[in-house]
Amino acid sequence: MLDADLPLLSVRNLQKSFGATRVLRGVNFTVRAGQIHALLGGNGAGKSTMIRIMTGGIRKDDGEIMLGSQRGAEPKIAIVHQELALVQDLSVAENIAMVHATAGLTIVRAGQRAELAYNALALLDPHLARSALHRKAADLSMHEGQIVEIARALSIGADVLLLDEPTANLTAGETERLFAVLRRLVRETGIGIVFVSHRMKEIRQLCDVCTIIRDGLTVVDATPLDSLTDNDIMQQMGQPGAREVAHSRRRFDMAEAGLVLKGAEAVIPIHKGQILGLAGSPAGPSQVIALLNGTGRSSSWSLDAKGWPARPASPRDAVALGIGYVSGDRRHKGVLAQLPIVDNVLASRRVREKRYMVRASERRECLDLVHALKLKAGSIRDLPSTLSGGNQQKLLIARWLGMSLRLVVFEEPTRGVDIGTKRDIYDLIRRMAEEGTIVVWWSTENVELLELCDEILAFDTDGRVKGLLPHDRFNEDALADLTGMAA
Ligand SMILES: Nc1ncnc2c1ncn2[C@@H]1O[C@H](COP(=O)(O)OP(=O)(O)OP(=O)(O)O)[C@@H](O)[C@H]1O
Ligand SMILES: [Mg+2]
Repeated sequence: MLDADLPLLSVRNLQKSFGATRVLRGVNFTVRAGQIHALLGGNGAGKSTMIRIMTGGIRKDDGEIMLGSQRGAEPKIAIVHQELALVQDLSVAENIAMVHATAGLTIVRAGQRAELAYNALALLDPHLARSALHRKAADLSMHEGQIVEIARALSIGADVLLLDEPTANLTAGETERLFAVLRRLVRETGIGIVFVSHRMKEIRQLCDVCTIIRDGLTVVDATPLDSLTDNDIMQQMGQPGAREVAHSRRRFDMAEAGLVLKGAEAVIPIHKGQILGLAGSPAGPSQVIALLNGTGRSSSWSLDAKGWPARPASPRDAVALGIGYVSGDRRHKGVLAQLPIVDNVLASRRVREKRYMVRASERRECLDLVHALKLKAGSIRDLPSTLSGGNQQKLLIARWLGMSLRLVVFEEPTRGVDIGTKRDIYDLIRRMAEEGTIVVWWSTENVELLELCDEILAFDTDGRVKGLLPHDRFNEDALADLTGMAA
């Protein structure tokens, strides 16, 4: 057990620039034993940069990093990166064992490896522990990958855990389970935890204190969360406060049914301009999504697209048909890592309009989209890897704005996006629907579905349809029940 309040890791006057961009201009931050510390700030504020500096991933320009030394040895630090960092070609067991080998703890033999990985995973997800040890990381869903990654970080017995948006891919039920494990770790071993998230509800559920960074400086330093209101926090982050959304119910012209989804358990007409939410863990929604976006066949669902020339046979075909898609896996299936931001933003327009030559007007076109989403970039000629996580997410959405789509399929479009920008994205989604686009939207955050959708199709954790909730029966508890998630 570590001494309570012992500073385990702190930075003083930390400074870092990328080229001409001064990201950190003198940040202070201290992680103490026995504390769960929220590190907050808008997209691009510098949270991931701080974490990477503290763990030696990138170099600071100036400032001090101090490691708590009361116990003699340096504290052991484990990190969950914002973007999944599993080795795709290795199995789950090998990925977990890997950090033990590199942490110099033991040389891990194959037999031990499986046991070690099983124990690590069983803590968070007993089912995954039984079924996934020998699967390749490349074959995991985003969601499973996230759990493996967290389990791996927890398993090395670190004194400090740095968790950079670990819950962005988790369902409410999984988040609950993770939080229970983290609280127990803090209580029983006195470790210190840093938690980065844009989900206010989670921050309040889990954390004791918060530090807020803004414009490269610490504006709130290790302050108890109890003493701050949500509005205080948003104000300090420079985010617009909560605003009331006038949600006018639309009436749908039944003659204008654009799509009919047919499954063994349900037949669902979706009308032009309708927002259909898909709730629940990914097993069920991913089948519907694969059918709609042309990436796969589904054994349990078929599609009647009235008045459309055809069903998409491939993603390229989908774009030509006026179907947009934002993948939940931005790293592997969204961002075009080798191409500059401008090409990423204009990608689907170029495919759809068969633009073979770069147009002179494209710069303006790209900048307009970048501004509409407050996408924070040094230059649109830079690579997407220079963007913060939330800003990479905005890149994927920008691709489909103003495209007059028939249908747009969103998987977790607000993943990692800060509170203020989430509001902007909701407005954009609503506007797309008002223009007649059918919106199909999967989210693990039930509350955001309830806020924006016209109907919600709920799946249980095994991927079975549990019900289609019409708007007048929207209710947080009812939806949590149907999806088998804690509210
Ligand atoms: N390698 C890089 N080259 C250039 N700029 C970079 C690089 N890495 C980060 N940046 C810039 O540094 C700023 C801070 O990025 P960082 O990823 O730390 O933000 P963040 O607070 O984690 O945001 P988010 O909530 O979106 O994850 C951003 O404006 C980003 O564009
Ligand atoms: Mg980040």
